[in-house]
Amino acid sequence: MLNWYAPQARRELLTYRHYIEVGEYQYKDLLKIILSRSARSARLTTHFDLDFPKEPQTEPYECYKHSRICYPVQEAFKFLSRYSKNTLNRISAFAKKRTNAHVSIHHADSRTLEFPPLDGVITSPPYVGLIDYHEQHTYAYNLLELKDRRSEEIGPAAKGVSKKARQQYQEGITRVFRNTMTAMPIGARLIVVAGDRHNLYDGIAEALDVEVEGIVKRHVVRRTGRRSSEFYESIFVWRKT
Ligand SMILES: C[S@@+](CC[C@H](N)C(=O)[O-])C[C@H]1O[C@@H](n2cnc3c(N)ncnc32)[C@H](O)[C@@H]1O
Repeated sequence: MLNWYAPQARRELLTYRHYIEVGEYQYKDLLKIILSRSARSARLTTHFDLDFPKEPQTEPYECYKHSRICYPVQEAFKFLSRYSKNTLNRISAFAKKRTNAHVSIHHADSRTLEFPPLDGVITSPPYVGLIDYHEQHTYAYNLLELKDRRSEEIGPAAKGVSKKARQQYQEGITRVFRNTMTAMPIGARLIVVAGDRHNLYDGIAEALDVEVEGIVKRHVVRRTGRRSSEFYESIFVWRKT
């Protein structure tokens, strides 16, 4: 992964990480998020292919996004600085809204995680055969030294969209909701945002025996990069029966 960075950018990211490790900071997790966002922006990628770059872009290139010659980024400091200020602003804005609700984050497989009692679920599950999340965020897994759980990803791009892959996806997502529903009372809602191009969610709702309260189509228009075309997502509103 190190060849995804120009030498100066790499030095700056590793120096920042070093200070997170040795420094006595109260909010190290927050600093890691700033590091991860900066590492994403400082990769040697073209501006028009931030999601699925195949190999590092080391030379100036014809940029489809900006219609001019662009240069691959050489440094990370400007991102570390920009995202530090931006993160502070976001935290100040959030501080005005936050309640004292308890929040906990688990890096785990939702099919088997033991959930605490839930009033409801709002989620955006993975797509079928479109994205390899670990692969797309390799830089973050490396930099943050997170455990690699790629074999637990549901619907990875690597498995494609064959009939078998779609069936495995349906089974996987059904298991996730069955598991979360054990922690929910009857009548509680599951709100699921999904790009259901392969029409798999009617079958999932049926297998779960939920009441379908509504299906809202969401027009997704704000996209960056090459996948800038518009598309529709569905928001499924289900109730546990
Ligand atoms: C469409 S993304 C939504 C991400 C998240 N809602 C957000 O807004 O950042 C789907 C997510 O599901 C995760 N995922 C895939 N398989 C999973 C599994 N078995 N258990 C838990 N999460 C999984 C992927 O890694 C990815 O982060």
